[in-house]
Amino acid sequence: MKYKIFKDSNPIMRKKSLPVDLPLSKEDRDTLDFMLDYLKKSQDEEYAKKHNIRAGVGIAAIQIGLLKRMFAIYYETEDGPVQYQLVNPKMLETSIKKCAIQAGEGCLSVDKDHPGLVHRHYKIKMSAYDALTNKDIVITASGFDAVVLQHEYDHLDGLFYYDRIDSKNLNTPLPNEEIL
Ligand code: NI
Repeated sequence: MKYKIFKDSNPIMRKKSLPVDLPLSKEDRDTLDFMLDYLKKSQDEEYAKKHNIRAGVGIAAIQIGLLKRMFAIYYETEDGPVQYQLVNPKMLETSIKKCAIQAGEGCLSVDKDHPGLVHRHYKIKMSAYDALTNKDIVITASGFDAVVLQHEYDHLDGLFYYDRIDSKNLNTPLPNEEIL
């Protein structure tokens, strides 16, 4: 494998990633293809076991050591796969309503388990260039979809999911928070 997954112990993970030049270079496009492919493979049980990697639904460029504002997302739903290769995403709107996944969150860069509710916006609107469809897009997402986008977006600003856990109230929902 060309890249390795950087862990949260690496100080580079706390840095703010930089905007990516558009139109996208061949190199950046190849990187995004690698990232999307990595996610797909990580969800193949046999492959993951063989290569000792964890399943992931999202990966940001910083997680392979590149300080670039881009990330890939891949997971399957009843309505087909949700997949993106987002470049220079911008958060346009966030709901006051919050949400958190009951089981908590995980991250390819975090080996230690961090129990507790990860407080997120229930609904978001995000714009980005999507290299998968070669279009500028605006995504409106809620619930789990919104959580995944916020998790990856946080990586671009050097944040981890556990930064959003209240260590004094691990499992207490916020007012106006839906537990997923
Ligand atoms: Ni992560």
